[in-house]
Amino acid sequence: MTDLNFEYWWQPFTNNRAFADYSRMFTRAEGNFLYTDDDRAVLDITAGLWCCNIGHARKSVADAVHAQLMQIDFAPPFQFGTPPAFQFAERLMKHTPDGINRIFFTNSGSEAVDTALKIAHLYQQTRGKGSKTRFISREQGYHGVNIGGTSMQGLPSNRQGFPVLEQLDWLPGMLDMERNAFTRGCPQHGTEEMAQAFEKIIALRGADAICAVIIEPISGAGGVVVPPTGYLKRIRELCDEHDILLIFDEVITGFGRTGSAFAAGEFEVTPDMMTSAKGINGGTVPMGGVFVKDSIQQSIFDNTPTTVPEFFHGNTYSGTPVAAAAGLAALDIYEGEALFTRASGETGQYWEDALHGLRDLPQVVDIRNYGLLGAVSFDCGDLPAKAVGAKIHQRCYENGLLCRPVGDHMVMSPPLNISHEEIDLFIEVFRKSVLEVLA
Ligand SMILES: Cc1ncc(COP(=O)(O)O)c(C=O)c1O
Repeated sequence: MTDLNFEYWWQPFTNNRAFADYSRMFTRAEGNFLYTDDDRAVLDITAGLWCCNIGHARKSVADAVHAQLMQIDFAPPFQFGTPPAFQFAERLMKHTPDGINRIFFTNSGSEAVDTALKIAHLYQQTRGKGSKTRFISREQGYHGVNIGGTSMQGLPSNRQGFPVLEQLDWLPGMLDMERNAFTRGCPQHGTEEMAQAFEKIIALRGADAICAVIIEPISGAGGVVVPPTGYLKRIRELCDEHDILLIFDEVITGFGRTGSAFAAGEFEVTPDMMTSAKGINGGTVPMGGVFVKDSIQQSIFDNTPTTVPEFFHGNTYSGTPVAAAAGLAALDIYEGEALFTRASGETGQYWEDALHGLRDLPQVVDIRNYGLLGAVSFDCGDLPAKAVGAKIHQRCYENGLLCRPVGDHMVMSPPLNISHEEIDLFIEVFRKSVLEVLA
């Protein structure tokens, strides 16, 4: 597009100085395709940015947003309410694990993470456990970009150079291509090492010093890394044993990605809080939220004077009616098209088989998948690290496919309503693109 000036918008996670040279521009979307400014169809195998789980441009969501804007576009959420947020909150609880029936709305996953960290802290303080202030996160984890989430980042380039919270320890990352390469679903190795590392931290710091653990059930931006068998249950056991809160960052894994509404349900492990965003309304209007155990909210309420807000925290757009209306309409689609379980049924199996069929491609060192998530890892060969991923990404885009590089891992998270034909198209274009880059 020649009439756009790229000087003014400072784009996120983008090499802005180089953007003008390659200026990849989408101007419309339909179904599971994005269209470039020269009207090339690009298959969206990343559901936008792990968020457009119901596909693009769903009319019923657009209609609901329009109707809500005309009914009441905004009213302050502090000390006032609008119906859609209450309706959406109540309907969401049909899909959460038993005992989790509260949500604090935010505008993004990053805000959800920082909100969850503050709720955890507030819970410990108000119940008289003021010494429990430390957090535990995991290497290779991604938890957004606010200061709390930046502190919890296990991806060095997103953390280094920023002011971060210091009261933090690290569980080891889960990616183990030496022992777990080419596993379908949950791999075998890693649970015991994690448990030992966790126990070491508890021994070093003392359980009385530890507030909460935050982890993604499946690591997304770290390269789609699936937890080894029993891992999440073991973490829950250790948290219970030592009175430590467990926060699942479900910003990616929530809303049907794993084959259940939430990974917590899929892996049968109930955390104390779940952070969410992205798929919450199909990636249409910015929204996030923290799902909180009833008992945690109750404890905070019981230990706070009745004359003041229980939580001095919130955003102008917390539970804003337009985002909630989009959420209600998206939920109609999720429920009506049985999308929450689609990743564990026939579609999930087709996806798994298709993905693992790429094993013969050059320089492939691992393929991983769970639900409608997947990753293909490449050896960088003679090229500098990360160059293979970047080149495959660009070639895929030129050939009509949007996937995502994380270093030399190519990661995928298709819309949940993806068809077999679209999966076949993904495989065909991905294979062709990799061969053009690496053969
Ligand atoms: C696990 C996880 N947490 C938090 C976030 C931050 O969400 P947002 O980009 O909406 O702030 C992301 C975004 O990718 C994420 O994957």
